[in-house]
Amino acid sequence: MAIRNVLRMGDARLWQSAEPVSHFDTQQLHALLVDLRDTMQALDGAGLAAPQIGVALRVVIFGVEHNSRYPDAESVPVTVLINPVITPLGEAMEEDWEGCLSVPGLRGLVPRHAHIRYQGQDEYGALIDRSVSGFHARVVQHECDHLDGILYPMRIRDMTQFGYNEELFPGREMQDE
Ligand code: NI
Repeated sequence: MAIRNVLRMGDARLWQSAEPVSHFDTQQLHALLVDLRDTMQALDGAGLAAPQIGVALRVVIFGVEHNSRYPDAESVPVTVLINPVITPLGEAMEEDWEGCLSVPGLRGLVPRHAHIRYQGQDEYGALIDRSVSGFHARVVQHECDHLDGILYPMRIRDMTQFGYNEELFPGREMQDE
């Protein structure tokens, strides 16, 4: 078990484009995934990308189990996604609030494609191919942006809709994602 330090916005490594994974089911890849899972769980995140712990590979994990504190939150299957390719399905965009473990304590209103298809592989090289909408689609787009050096504040259209959790949502307990 290794909880890794999550890089924060300003660290130049977060602006880099990550490299594709070429070998699957290796000791190094499994060790990376243990660290990603441990770190995401410890920080109660919805997703985490390898570049956020300083590893420049195209690997993300995400997943949201049903949470009794947030009964309305949609669940997202726990997923390892490697070398992802996202294809928007249709033109529809949706705005919603996002947070990020690399931008702690803040939230912003971010436009994302409402419907996407995403393809990639798991840690064993098995193909993943899903068409999803809403929160699931948002989480995937957010995490995959990290692989291209994009943090969600770069996508905010109206900077008045970006700020500290306590100011935007007084009295509400907010998680970093
Ligand atoms: Ni993030």
